[in-house]
Amino acid sequence: MKLVPALLLLVAAAAAAAQPAPLPRIETSNGRHALIVDGRPFLMLGAQVNNSSNYPAMLPLVWPTIAALHANTVEVPIAWEQIEPVEGRFDFSFLDTLLRQAREHDVRLVLLWFGTWKNTGPNYAPEWVKTDTRRFPRMRTREGRTHYALSPHGRATLEADRNAFVQLMTHLRDADPQRTTIMVQVENETGSYRSPRDFSPEAQRLFDGPVPPALARLRRPGTWSQVFGLRADQAFNAWYIARYVDEIAAAGRAVLDLPMYCNAALSDAFTENGAENGASGGPNWNVIDVWKAAAPHIDLVAPDIYNRDPAAYFAYLDHYRRPDNALMVPETGNAAEYARFFWPALGRGAIGFSPFGMDATGYSNYPLGAERLDPDTIAAFAAPFRLFAPIARDWARLAFGHPAWGFAKGADGADQSSTLGRWRVTAQYGLWSFGERDWTWLPTRPNPNASRPAGGGVVLQLGPDEFLVAGSDVRIRFALAEAQADNMQWLSVEEGTFVDGAWQMRRRWNGDQSDYGLNFSAEPVLLRVRLGTYR
Ligand code: DGJ
Repeated sequence: MKLVPALLLLVAAAAAAAQPAPLPRIETSNGRHALIVDGRPFLMLGAQVNNSSNYPAMLPLVWPTIAALHANTVEVPIAWEQIEPVEGRFDFSFLDTLLRQAREHDVRLVLLWFGTWKNTGPNYAPEWVKTDTRRFPRMRTREGRTHYALSPHGRATLEADRNAFVQLMTHLRDADPQRTTIMVQVENETGSYRSPRDFSPEAQRLFDGPVPPALARLRRPGTWSQVFGLRADQAFNAWYIARYVDEIAAAGRAVLDLPMYCNAALSDAFTENGAENGASGGPNWNVIDVWKAAAPHIDLVAPDIYNRDPAAYFAYLDHYRRPDNALMVPETGNAAEYARFFWPALGRGAIGFSPFGMDATGYSNYPLGAERLDPDTIAAFAAPFRLFAPIARDWARLAFGHPAWGFAKGADGADQSSTLGRWRVTAQYGLWSFGERDWTWLPTRPNPNASRPAGGGVVLQLGPDEFLVAGSDVRIRFALAEAQADNMQWLSVEEGTFVDGAWQMRRRWNGDQSDYGLNFSAEPVLLRVRLGTYR
């Protein structure tokens, strides 16, 4: 008889163990967003592997780089040609290996579905798709020639892609109750280069008709040309690609409801000129509204940022940080100078940031990224990730509830300022840690950082006079925003971290360490700062 309660306990324990972990999801509150993983906010310290690293034989060349980076999330392609080389026959052996090894290395995964579109082309579609242009039609150019991209108006293509994607999500549902996979990217850099849309007779008929009701509500009723003018071809392609992708995402989510996003090949950050000559139809910044209306099953659209101009970088971040769109940088160049853009992304509430090409397979996509992924380059990204890896949950939780400002050195190295409550925060670059810029009586060599594209930080406002501050290669100063009789003073500057959700101080910064602003070296640290005034 005694056995029965023990058995019951065992059965209950087994049932609990078999319970899948809660589904990751995006949560939005007060215009801020959080990626919820295992029921709590999570900050993706990401790394994307090279395009052809999606084979078991390559994974030993992936994990050491991921470990050196202190990344907690790895973005890996799953190619249609790989899982369905023969129509209707599926092979998930790579995915199974990947899931197992990701768990062994204690990282989460973002799977990148390379299907109908990969950098707009169909090269990751299986041979049985690529060779059958009757069943799976390519776009037509304005002159009627065959274009390289698969047409978003090809119903059979959509259905074949959707079927493969549903099989993928079904396998994932059964093979990943732990939710090692926390997000899925549906397709990769959709759109088309060199032709702004499909000019086939079927597509032309749609183009000559009215815009769909959702866009008529967003803008006004009329034909595509009437409503979108010079951007009509691009908006048309965006709508039909987004609808296509949304149908695939919806079918996948019906099986396993993971957060899904689409990444964008970007055009000029400041003007729409020539946007139709870029990856026309993808979720470029000037058609985010079209994508939002067309693809309700896509949680967010995300910029792949390979522009080294800081002003352009900040503009892209601002375009994609919206109350209806969580900011995520799924790809950015892996040259060391891009590492500082982690800070402005964080300050805009990014849920994740991932340099691209992070493995030891030896490939370099210079001039987009680094010439070589050498130890110094890896170290540039590893420095902030090392600080944030143990506190990724704490940061994500606090960033979800508080205002923040993030910054990085601009092209001119000039000071940058922002106001948070009654405080003016200023970032300065290229200074030594001691003394003031106007101390001309002390002969001083210029700091080597003055000519380097390094430096950045983030300030998160916990309360009216209380901040978390982190950064590297930067001096951060606080002052009262309004000139008044009061003077600012530090009440305390604590260096520390979070342990089990509670602040743990390591030391106080005082004397030289706070007399000339808060000076961060190349190795970032986290400070908790309390400010006061006196008169
Ligand atoms: C952006 C794409 O999304 C990536 O897969 C890769 O091709 C890079 N461009 C270039 O390395």
